[in-house]
This record gives sequence, C-alpha cells and structure tokens, in this order.
Amino acid sequence: MSDKKVTLTVTGETPVELDVLQGTLGQDVVDVRSLGSKGLFTFDPGFTSTASCESKITYIDGDEGILLHRGYPIDQLATQSNYLEVCYILLNGEAPTQEQFEEFRTIVTRHTMIHEQITRLFHGFRRDSHPMAVMCGVTGALAAFYHDSLDVNLERHREIAAFRLLSKMPTVAAMCYKYSIGQPFVYPRNDLSYAGNFLHMMFATPCEEYTVNPVLERAMDRILILHADHEQNASTSTVRTAGSSGANPFACIAAGIASLWGPAHGGANEACLRMLEEISHKDHIPEFVKRAKDKNDSFRLMGFGHRVYKNYDPRATVMRETCHEVLNELGMKDDLLEVAMELEHIALNDPYFIERKLYPNVDFYSGIILKAMGIPSSMFTVIFAMARTVGWIAHWKEMHDEGMKIARPRQLYTGYAQREFESNLPK
Ligand code: CMC
Repeated sequence: MSDKKVTLTVTGETPVELDVLQGTLGQDVVDVRSLGSKGLFTFDPGFTSTASCESKITYIDGDEGILLHRGYPIDQLATQSNYLEVCYILLNGEAPTQEQFEEFRTIVTRHTMIHEQITRLFHGFRRDSHPMAVMCGVTGALAAFYHDSLDVNLERHREIAAFRLLSKMPTVAAMCYKYSIGQPFVYPRNDLSYAGNFLHMMFATPCEEYTVNPVLERAMDRILILHADHEQNASTSTVRTAGSSGANPFACIAAGIASLWGPAHGGANEACLRMLEEISHKDHIPEFVKRAKDKNDSFRLMGFGHRVYKNYDPRATVMRETCHEVLNELGMKDDLLEVAMELEHIALNDPYFIERKLYPNVDFYSGIILKAMGIPSSMFTVIFAMARTVGWIAHWKEMHDEGMKIARPRQLYTGYAQREFESNLPK
C-alpha cells in the first residue's frame, strides 16, 4: 500500500485507483498489477515505461549519468576496487571484509577448470564459427556436465551454480579464442588474478613463457568491472525471463549471451570497431555522420546512444581514460583513437545528436583498448559476456531468493477475428 495514488478512468466505467510505489532512488512506479483482473492490460513495446521487477542491485540515473552498484558509484569501483570484489558486492550486497574476500576469491579461483570432456564439444564447431556462437552453445551445455547443482529451488545449488559460472566463464571464453585460431587450449592458473588468468589463457602457448603485463591486467580488470552489471538491460531481462520458468542457470546464462550478441546491445563493441576501421580517417567522418542522421539509411553511429543514459555514459568516461593509459603503456599511437575522438567531438556538437541526447556509451572506446591488447574484434562481445555473467547471476539469484512468478506478458492482438477454416489443399 502507498499513500500516493493514480486514478485511472476508463470512459463509462468506475475509476480504478492504483498505488504509486517509491523506490530508494529513481522514478515512482505505478503498480498496474490489479488491472489484468479488471480486464485491462498496459501496452509498452520495448518496455520504455515499464519497471519489470523490483531489484536492489544496480541503479542508473540516465539524466545525470550516474551508475551505482549496491549504492557504490561505478567510477569509484573502477578505480579503487577489483573485479572479484565488485562480483562479491553485486552478489552479496555489501563490500567484503578481507576474510570474506579471501574466501570468495579462493572458491572462484579453485573452480576455474572445466570438465575435460568439454574440450571435445568444442571440436564439433567449425573453426571459423563466431566465438559468441561457440560460447552460447558451450555455456548451455555446461548443464549436462554439472547436473548435480541444477535444482533451482535449493539455495545451495543456486550458490554452487553461481560459483561455477563465475569461475569457469573466463576458461570457456579463452577456449573459444584458442579454438578459433587453432592453438591448444591453455589451462587456468590459480596463482593469477581473474583478469591475469584470462589473459594468460588467451595468450600463453605451450612453447613460450607468457608474462602478464600488469598495466594490461589492470585494464582488463577495469573493462570487466565496467561491464559487470547494468540493471534490467535486454540480456539481463532475458536471463530473468528464462529463469522465471525455473530453467537451469546454465541455460539462463546461455540465453543472456544470445541476447547480448545483438549489435544494439553487447555486439555494439565489435560493430563500433568495424565502423571506426571503415571510417579510417578523420576526413571521412562527415560522410558517416550524414549517413547516421539519414532516416532512409539504416546506418547508426555504433557506440553512441543509450535507452537510459541521456548524458555521458559514466562507463565511457573511465573507458576513455583507460584507453589512453593502455596505448601509452604499449607505446602505441592508434589512428582509430584519433578517429574516435574526432567523431565524438563532431557528434557532440551536432544538433541531431544534441537534441536526441546521444552520447558515447561503454562500447565506444572499449574496442580500441581490446584491439591494442591484441584481442580480435570477434572476441569483444565474448569478453562483455564473461564480465556480465556476474550481473546475470546476481539478478537470477535475487529473483529466486525473493520468490518469482513466471514472466508471461500479454499482447494487443491485431490479427484476424475468429473465422471458419476451409482448406485450400486437395481433399
Ligand atoms: N546513431 C544515430 N541515431 C541514433 C543512434 C545512433 N547510434 N541511436 C539513436 N539514434 C536516434 C534514433 O534514430 C532516433 O531518432 P528519431 O527520434 O529521429 O527517430 C532517436 O535517436 C532515439 O533512438 P531509439 O532507437 O528510439 O532509442 P532506443 O532507446 O530505442 O535505442 C540504442 C537505444 C542503444 C539501441 C540506440 O541508441 C543504438 O542503436 N545505438 C547504437 C548501438 C549501441 O551503441 N549499442 C550499445 C548500447 S550500450 C551497451 C549495452 O548496454 O549494451
């Protein structure tokens, strides 16, 4: 019950009073749950005005460009924390004590190996498969190997599955890469950090020592933090929807990976780098900006715009700084960074982008950093998926912990009314 109400009047009918719910932060929410029983549904394709659930994990203020995980600002987490600590915070709600953190880290790092038979599963894929297709398939298949933790009604099983996913995702991600280039899989090393171990599995070979560069390790850790969670985005909502039927956690995360792959969502980082490469020189920017503004052209500036942010994406700010750091460390001058900075400058001063409040998002600079690290663009969304796994799990767990109803939206039906069937096939 709430003191604040909304009254809905349908012409000729008794008005309906609806509660207005208030969160800790953010917009008020009209509770429309009672409408269905009164013969009315709300209509909101794309969920532009719908809060699909209650959550305590992440808050975004899109107008101010604020992102908080469990109340902590993303820029503070990115600069003062590490990915595993952020994972702990997302999953448990509070910053860990030293002892809690050590225990958490030990569990994650001791479960990084995957069932050996899974290596054979990889060999069923064509070498030229997109790594996201492989990751999606292999993640779903994990349920076949870890079926001792699939009873989603048991809290302990949910916890085991959560650790397994968090621990094994970098191994699966790196295997996707190694398979695509025909190199042997590299086993995880538990003496390395989460990010360091991932880089090791990506770049080590049996014939050469690989030493993780601490600047790149830190940059990778930061990329993981910046992608860890983002409230009810398309892939997280997909995970929640899949999970609402009681589906197993590996299937739910595979569903999240599939949703993330789209270019309007996580696939934008790969698409953005391709776009910057296509632009290739500052002189060509006006031509691309013109196309982005042309309603008859499907081209959009990738890495620009966001459903929620109507201000600079706070993740993009940190990403831009990290980009400069990495290029400095590697002593590289990337022409694409120059193109990106000029494109940002031109777009931010163009009335089309100003009026629509289109700013660079997290995907705008991440590709340049990953490319500088030697990571091919086909792996960008895989890394996003690896980082976002913790967010997906946190939401999936929250949904189960708090009790859920199966997600079952209704529709505005605009098809045929009932009619008689008469077959056109010969009798
Ligand atoms: N380039 C050119 N025009 C754009 C762009 C863009 N990147 N993004 C939005 N617009 C225009 C759009 O054409 C529309 O104009 P009009 O009002 O004249 O019809 C207006 O801005 C509103 O766009 P929308 O498509 O209604 O907005 P949305 O909230 O449904 O879509 C978005 C958000 C992220 C899908 C969209 O901005 C986009 O496609 N961006 C490029 C892809 C991208 O970078 N995605 C990564 C998002 S951040 C990472 C993540 O969380 O996944």
